[in-house]
Amino acid sequence: MQSTCDSKQNADHVAIIMDGNGRWARAQNLPRSAGHRAGIDALRRIVRAAPGHGIRTLTVFAFSADNWRRPANEVAILMQLFGEFLDAETEDLVRDGVRLSIIGRRDRLSPALVAEIERSEQATQFGDALHLRVAVDYSARAAIADAARALGPNVSEENLTATLTGEDGDVDLLIRTAGERRLSDFLLWECAYAEFVFTPRLWPDFTEADLAGALADFGARNRTFGAIPAEAA
Ligand code: IPE
Ligand code: IPE
Ligand code: MG
Repeated sequence: MQSTCDSKQNADHVAIIMDGNGRWARAQNLPRSAGHRAGIDALRRIVRAAPGHGIRTLTVFAFSADNWRRPANEVAILMQLFGEFLDAETEDLVRDGVRLSIIGRRDRLSPALVAEIERSEQATQFGDALHLRVAVDYSARAAIADAARALGPNVSEENLTATLTGEDGDVDLLIRTAGERRLSDFLLWECAYAEFVFTPRLWPDFTEADLAGALADFGARNRTFGAIPAEAA
């Protein structure tokens, strides 16, 4: 396993927009569902690898609020795969010390899936090797609007940040696969100072080496958060 020791800085919070499952399937003449299945295998690999690279929180985009616009049969398969993932992985997540949280709306998911989510979150609640946050029916704009509504008169940048990021903090590194270069309504607030890595690799092909490459890229970046580099001061 590679380490990040040669990097200048650690990426505590990494976010990934897992894109390209459909193109991966099409390239091999398979149905889109096969791409989504392969995408779950890739997620499993990256979750296992993440703690070894110093990642404390991994937030992944699995299903956006806009993905309801896809054909009903694709949505149904995605929901089914998501349930299967929870069913098959929870035990391993517990073993590996991974705490699972699902972020996004739950009221449009089936009651059976919500029950499965709650079971997995509860079973993994004491994991402290990695916080895995899976975004399902997620919209960053909706999350910001909900947080603002909940804060009411106490709305402020500080309180919104606390409400939205909690102990996980802002995103350090955002990776998007499959060559697209947009946020698609993911973690808009939390990415205020995120470094972005875009890779043409399709998500089902994404490996630990790709993760290490993105982290090395991140480690070489100069983050000054609006200030100037120390040596220039
Ligand atoms: C990402 O892959 C998975 C989801 C959005 C659910 P896509 O399904 O968007 O794959 P492409 O972009 O069509 O290749
Ligand atoms: C973003 O990917 C959502 C997920 C990866 C879950 P999409 O493939 O849905 O986004 P657009 O349509 O290319 O922006
Ligand atoms: Mg896509």
